[in-house]
Amino acid sequence: MRTIIAGNWKMHKTAREALSLVDGLIALSADFPPGIDVVVAPPFTALEAVSHRLRGQTAIQLGAQSMHWENQGAYTGEISPPMLQEFGVAYVILGHSERRAACGETNEFVRLKTRAALAAGITPIVAVGETLEEKEAGQTQNKVVTQTVEALEGLSGDECARVVLAYEPIWAIGTGRNDDPHNANHTMHWIRSCKPELARVPILYGGSVKPENMAGYAAMENINGALVGGASLQAESFAGIVRAAASGGSA
Ligand code: PGA
Repeated sequence: MRTIIAGNWKMHKTAREALSLVDGLIALSADFPPGIDVVVAPPFTALEAVSHRLRGQTAIQLGAQSMHWENQGAYTGEISPPMLQEFGVAYVILGHSERRAACGETNEFVRLKTRAALAAGITPIVAVGETLEEKEAGQTQNKVVTQTVEALEGLSGDECARVVLAYEPIWAIGTGRNDDPHNANHTMHWIRSCKPELARVPILYGGSVKPENMAGYAAMENINGALVGGASLQAESFAGIVRAAASGGSA
């Protein structure tokens, strides 16, 4: 199974600042362990600069944080699949909880975007996760299974196999309160069990991942990497997570 460590820079870093961070990562990438796909997802405005800087080296791949499902049209403020393809974007994060909460991104939107990404040859990283209220009400399984099934509805088996999923408990995002690895692994088992095709699909854990806690996740059967926010904004801490991801020994 592929291991992926993806950095979601959110609304951080101007293009100039993004270049400085990516230069720091390139300098550290000589020590990245083999067999790990390392992805950075800068803001749209930094994609072009970062894409030029990454050209010719394969240790780090480019991601985007969102995408519309149409190739063009009257969608003010949106970004289309061909616009991302032009910069060699290999991954796109879809359905992040911040976009679901602040931009009204529904399961239906995530489904349309997932199909569009696959059609464009961009690997979707589909994010699911429960709020603290849902967790405390015992609704975690129902929430993450519904989000997963609805995002993947109508996809062929081959298409499903090309998706990456991310389990991000909303209460763990940016709070410093990461989920217990065993608990996350349990929830991710429910996600993996949604469809037979998901048996070989990487599922990433996200929510306050740091170099110090990454190895605990990497050791879990159903966890195949991480989607990292805050700790991806410093080259040394993100590189520390990449190195720790190799130490867990997930199959
Ligand atoms: P965090 O964010 O690592 O800062 O908790 C994770 C995410 O939102 O993807």
